[in-house]
Amino acid sequence: MRAVTVNVHRRVRDPSASEIMKTIIEPFRIKVVEPIKLTTRDEREQLIEAAGYNPFLLRADDVIIDLLTDSGTSAMSSEAWAAMMRGDESYAGARSWYRFRDAVNDIFGFEQVIPTHQGRAAEHILFGIMVQPDSIIPNNTHFDTTRANIEFSGGNAIDLPCSEAEDLDSEYPFKGNMDTAALEKLVAEKGPVRIPIIMVTITNNSGGGQPVSMANIREISRIARGANIPFYIDACRFAENSQFIKRREPGYENTATIDIAREMFSYADGCTMSAKKDAFANIGGFLCTNDAALAQRERNLLILTEGFPTYGGLAGRDLEAIAVGLHEVLDEHYLDYRLLSIRYVVEHLRELGIPVVAPSGGHAVYLDARRFLPHIEPLQYPGQSLAVELYVEAGVRTVEIGTVMFGADSRTGEECAARFDLVRLAIPRRVYTQSHMDYVLEAINLVWERRSDIRGMRIVRAPQFLRHFTAEFDWI
Ligand SMILES: Cc1ncc(COP(=O)(O)O)c(C=O)c1O
Repeated sequence: MRAVTVNVHRRVRDPSASEIMKTIIEPFRIKVVEPIKLTTRDEREQLIEAAGYNPFLLRADDVIIDLLTDSGTSAMSSEAWAAMMRGDESYAGARSWYRFRDAVNDIFGFEQVIPTHQGRAAEHILFGIMVQPDSIIPNNTHFDTTRANIEFSGGNAIDLPCSEAEDLDSEYPFKGNMDTAALEKLVAEKGPVRIPIIMVTITNNSGGGQPVSMANIREISRIARGANIPFYIDACRFAENSQFIKRREPGYENTATIDIAREMFSYADGCTMSAKKDAFANIGGFLCTNDAALAQRERNLLILTEGFPTYGGLAGRDLEAIAVGLHEVLDEHYLDYRLLSIRYVVEHLRELGIPVVAPSGGHAVYLDARRFLPHIEPLQYPGQSLAVELYVEAGVRTVEIGTVMFGADSRTGEECAARFDLVRLAIPRRVYTQSHMDYVLEAINLVWERRSDIRGMRIVRAPQFLRHFTAEFDWI
C-alpha cells in the first residue's frame, strides 16, 4: 500500500533520514519473533460462536492480529530485558525500587510514589480512600476501570468532554479536552465536600484516544486549586499526549517532550498510572501524590492488597523494566513514528470512505460503528457486531467501546445508548509492522463492502460490573 505523506516529519528538529523520506519506518529492528497461527474463516466462525461472540473470550492463539488492547502487549527493548536481569528481588528496600522511584520522580515530579501491580490497583486504593457515597468525580471521560472503581466505592463518575468531541469528523486537535466551563459550574454548585477529586485522562482512551492540550490541563488545575480540590491525571499515555502537544499546540514545537511531560504533571496534585501503556511494560503501575498524610493511608491499604511499599505487587525485575521504559518512551523519534503509524491507518480508512474518529489519536484507531452499521440500533450493539465480523473476516481482534461497555448502570441494571458506538483497534507498541496494518485495512474494507448483511446482537448473560469483559452474546 502507498505510504502516507507525512508533513510532520519536516518539523522534526534533528536532521535525520525521516525528514526527507516519505515512508514511515519502524524505528527499531526485530530480534525475537513470535509465530502467528493462521486460521480459516470456517474455523473462526466456530471459535467466535464458542466464545459467546465476545472477542475477550477467545484464545489468543486463535487470533491473527490482536488489536484488543495496547495494554501490557508492548514489545520490550533489549535494554529493558537487560535491566530485568538486574532485578533485585529483596522483599524490602530493593535496588530496583530506588531505580523505579527515581525514574518516576524524574518525569512525574510527585513527592510520594506508590507502586502497584497495574493501573486499576492504583485507582482502587485512591478511590477507596477519597470517595464517599454520593461523591462526584469529574473527568474528561472516565475509562471503564476508573468508572467502575468509583462506582464500587459508592461515588458518581461524571464525564465532561469538550463539545468539539461530539463531532467525530471534526479535525479539532485536542478533542480529549475537558469542558472546563462545565467543570467550573459543577465545582461552584457542589463544592469540595461533594467533589473529593478532579481527574483528567491523557490521552482520552474512551473518547477516541484524543489528546488533552496543555492549556486545558492548566485551566483544570486553576479551577481545582481555586476550590481546594486535588487534581489527578490518569497518566497511562502521558508520552503520546506530550508528543501531541509538541506537534499540535503552538508554543511547544521547540520544547523537549520530557519537559512537556514535566510541565503537565506540575499542574497536578497526583496521578494514577498503568505502566502497561506508555512504559512498554507487560505489567505494573503506580499512584503518586504530594500529600504525605494521604500517601501514608494509601500505603497502609497497599500493604493489605498489593504488597510492601517498595514493590507493591511487582517483582524487582518489573520495576527495572518500567524504569527503563518510562525514559525510552520519551524518545521523540519513536513518538513521531507512533503517532504517524496510527495516522497511516486512519488516513487510508478515510480514503476508503469508512467512518472513523478523526483526527487520528495516539494509540488506537476507532471505527464509528453507528455510521458503519446505521441499520443496527445502539441497543442491538452495532460495535459488538462489527468486532465479531472483523474477527470472522480475517482473525482481527478488536473491542467494542460503546453501549456494551458503557450502556448499563451497574447499580440499577438499566440500559441506554452510550454516547458513541465505537470499535477500537488498539495498536500494541512496537509489535506489528506496516504489512500487518495493510492486512487490517483490507479486512475492514471487506466487512465494509458487505455491511448491509450484518445483523445486530443481544446479550445472553452479563455480570454486574465491567460486563464487556465476560458477557456472552448471540445474533438477533
Ligand atoms: C485510560 C486508562 N486508565 C486506566 C486503565 C487501567 O489500567 P490497567 O489495565 O493497568 O489496570 C486503562 C487501561 O486500559 C486506561 O486505558
